[in-house]
Amino acid sequence: MPPLPEPLLLSPDGRFAVVQSQPWMAEALEAIQEASFPTLSREERMTREHYLAHMRIFPEGQHAVVERATGKVVACSTDFRTRVDFHHYLHRYLEAVAGNWLTRHDPEGDWLYGADIGVLPEYRGQGLSKLLYQARQNLVRRLGLKGHVAGSMPKGYHRYAQAMPIEEYVHRVVREELVDPVLSIQLKRGYRVYGILPDYLEDPSCGNYGVFVVWRNPEVGW
Ligand SMILES: CC(C)(COP(=O)(O)OP(=O)(O)OC[C@H]1O[C@@H](n2cnc3c(N)ncnc32)[C@H](O)[C@@H]1OP(=O)(O)O)[C@@H](O)C(=O)NCCC(=O)NCCS
Repeated sequence: MPPLPEPLLLSPDGRFAVVQSQPWMAEALEAIQEASFPTLSREERMTREHYLAHMRIFPEGQHAVVERATGKVVACSTDFRTRVDFHHYLHRYLEAVAGNWLTRHDPEGDWLYGADIGVLPEYRGQGLSKLLYQARQNLVRRLGLKGHVAGSMPKGYHRYAQAMPIEEYVHRVVREELVDPVLSIQLKRGYRVYGILPDYLEDPSCGNYGVFVVWRNPEVGW
């Protein structure tokens, strides 16, 4: 295993480190993507070439979680900087991420946009997404950005799609009457729902919907 870069964060038990993603990890990152988004359309999934491009375009925005004893890359997230017009927030995933190449990364952008987060299935439920959200929010603080936005995938919606419209589903998840495997986790990390994104991407698990979520940097005046 090539030497690990300086950890940005460690898990409370010290088993896992968050580091900036490195080119030698590209294959592992693609495997995490495959395992994390099995029902997402193929053209919306990231490949090793995409990950390598992200590391060239905005290295600080690319995080990986490594199991320190084995050097195995087990989770990752992808971010870029952008400007956000909250009056016109409707958009599609592929537009935002420029076909997954992140060429719309704006070095002057005052918001961080979360393109993806994934944890290998056998490593879920151990606080690794919590660690990645912490690292991403630390980056927002370090860069003095206004906050973090993302198109959340409400992956539990397919089970309720016949019973209720997406607005009601999201409302009930926010009220903690329903638990969504993705949105509920983001709400716990301090993200708030801004609006629904119809036709955000192509994935039957979330009825092709996205939910625009926002975490505001408490260090920036509002
Ligand atoms: C969503 C995902 C990233 C969560 O990762 P994870 O490492 O398992 O999450 P964590 O262990 O950090 O859990 C975070 C919190 O959510 C809770 N949680 C974990 N899995 C949950 C689930 N399925 N439903 C509800 N809550 C859950 C945990 O108890 C924890 O709560 P706490 O902060 O109160 O302790 C992971 O399930 C995944 O990779 N999914 C596939 C990819 C995906 O959908 N990404 C999101 C795209 S927008």
